[in-house]
Amino acid sequence: MSKLFPKLNFLHGADYNPDQWLDRPEILEQDIAMMKETKCNVMSVGIFSWAKLEPREGQYEFAWLDNVLDKLYASGIYVFLATPSGARPAWVSENYPEVLRTNKDRTKNLHGERHNHCYSSPAYRRLTKSINEQLARRYAHHPAVLAWHISNEYGGECHCEHCQQSFRDWLKNKYQTLENLNARWWSAFWSHDYSSWSQLHSPGPLGEQSVHALNLDWRRFVSEQVALFCRHEVQAVKRFNPALPATTNFHGVFNDYDYWRLAQEVDFISWDSYPEWHQTRGQQALASYTAFTFDLMRSLKPGLPFLLMESTPGTTSWQAVSKLKKPGMHRLSALQAVAHGSDSVQYFQWRKSRGSIEKFHGAVVDHVGHINTRVGQDVKQVGAALEKLAAAAGADYRAEVAIVYDWDNRWAVNDSAGPRNCGIKFEETVQGHYQALWQQNIPVDIVSRSADISRYRTIVAPMLYMVNAEFAERINAFVAAGGIFISTYWSGIVNEDDLCYTGGFPGPLREVLGVWSEEIDGLYEGETNLLSMQIAGWNGPSREYACVELCDLIHAETAEVLGVYQQDFYRGRPAVTRNRYGKGQAYYLAARTGGDFLADFYRHIADAHGLQACTSMQLPQGAVATARSAEGEDYIFVQNYGDRAVTLDLAEESRSLAPQLDPDALSGHLYALPAFGVEVFLAKRGESFNVGRR
Ligand code: GLA
Ligand code: ZN
Repeated sequence: MSKLFPKLNFLHGADYNPDQWLDRPEILEQDIAMMKETKCNVMSVGIFSWAKLEPREGQYEFAWLDNVLDKLYASGIYVFLATPSGARPAWVSENYPEVLRTNKDRTKNLHGERHNHCYSSPAYRRLTKSINEQLARRYAHHPAVLAWHISNEYGGECHCEHCQQSFRDWLKNKYQTLENLNARWWSAFWSHDYSSWSQLHSPGPLGEQSVHALNLDWRRFVSEQVALFCRHEVQAVKRFNPALPATTNFHGVFNDYDYWRLAQEVDFISWDSYPEWHQTRGQQALASYTAFTFDLMRSLKPGLPFLLMESTPGTTSWQAVSKLKKPGMHRLSALQAVAHGSDSVQYFQWRKSRGSIEKFHGAVVDHVGHINTRVGQDVKQVGAALEKLAAAAGADYRAEVAIVYDWDNRWAVNDSAGPRNCGIKFEETVQGHYQALWQQNIPVDIVSRSADISRYRTIVAPMLYMVNAEFAERINAFVAAGGIFISTYWSGIVNEDDLCYTGGFPGPLREVLGVWSEEIDGLYEGETNLLSMQIAGWNGPSREYACVELCDLIHAETAEVLGVYQQDFYRGRPAVTRNRYGKGQAYYLAARTGGDFLADFYRHIADAHGLQACTSMQLPQGAVATARSAEGEDYIFVQNYGDRAVTLDLAEESRSLAPQLDPDALSGHLYALPAFGVEVFLAKRGESFNVGRR
């Protein structure tokens, strides 16, 4: 059963907008029949319904929503009830223009679109509070309502006078005095000292953008502001039933806010995933990227499942090319979420609207009005799969390896003018390391700088450019106690104020890594160096790998050299090192490489340090596995993102592995997994989980 909603196993459903069809009452009846047929048990309702709920200020119309909730519930369908702050009725903007957003360049928006509001505006706070309270007073104890869906995909920022004032208050609270602020912002540079708080403004293209600490503080403030706005919304609804949980739908590796911060304001994480399957470039890389994002979302609330709140049953209407999902891809994509810890598969949207910008966005029910469509049948197939997998709902996801992904670091490294302004590629670098582990079926969690890293065996911190002394100390303690730490070039450069460490990079990680980084070389597109590994047992001594984009010139101080550069004036200098520190070991990758090196490197790390794959099954090229663990049992999701069928050789394990979805594909110890196929094998704990690695 779901850990979040014990009444249910897996959740299956969609964003549902019956308020677009109020003049066609038969639609609701037809929809409910089709929801039953597709085994949908939850709908997100009311997301953009403010104008239908409060057509004029203080005048509420709930009859339609009463009818929708009652009818859904009578048919066994639950509801995530939304607060409608994501978009507002025209009367709100007309009566209270202050609610509209001011952009970075200080232009003020007109009414329209969505997410077009100020998080500081007292009027917007008051109006959202009152509609939220009205909804909660009426529905917080409605038996259909499972949880609150707070707003929709919070995003963006506002630079109005209310926001400027809130920013100044936030800065005052953080720095207390201007002397302190000036010192920590390095304001002596370009005569940037501030002599009164009123001189402080948010960064923008017409004003200041060169004070890195200001840019970073603005991002931190914006994150705090949206978190407080979310809290304000949650408080308004929880007053009427504190037990009813609340979520807001996140969007993956979104740059705007520190999601570690926003996660604190909700009871569980839900998010919206829209991978562009079947692009011409790299399906494997896309599958790995999507897997990373699922792991990130799951990790935002350790120990809890997350929900896939939106995904498209067909195509989107906003991607450059709306490619249809090939047969099998819908189920594979849906179960990838489940494989990484989701207790739901939900869609945007249940029924296609007739007008406006999303009228061609994929939906369970197309304009034709029924589900005897390819997409409708795909959705039915997922409904059936989730039912077959019911016993796996609520199962855990277990990882011994964690990758550090911290918004402060990300913002800082992307903002810094440094060794490669044409592309520092922080996100891609993290993805590269993740993909090497994903390909080996090694489960990974994602952590922030404030996570308890002591519960992992291996911590990977690619480009940990910004590291505060406290985190560095915990990394040192982690390694001293026996942990394996892996970091790269362009780490340990600045502290939390974005001030460079003096006394040698990688700053507070210098001792644990045992290297001093003296300089870093930026390489042009197409330019390469080479590194060769000089370590016994490494795929043969002559193997050389291309280094690209960033080559760190380091001195191995206490570290042992595992690989060296082969070219240019730094030929022979260390490129890969390992430092023994206390009971543990710390690796430093000085150069950026391609996936070929990372694959071999992490295979080496896995062998040397016993990193466990989630299955001992030997998987063919293109197939990967992820596992969820329930009482005494493991569900191993084998996923084939390739466009060719593969055969799984279950060999020894064939007796203990029971295919849950398509058992007929098993013949003896061979299992035929089609192109874009997914199968879930049930294994008794210990028989086929964590006992080996491909
Ligand atoms: C987002 C939004 C939805 C819808 C979809 C379309 O995820 O939350 O309202 O616009 O995108 O893909
Ligand atoms: Zn504002």
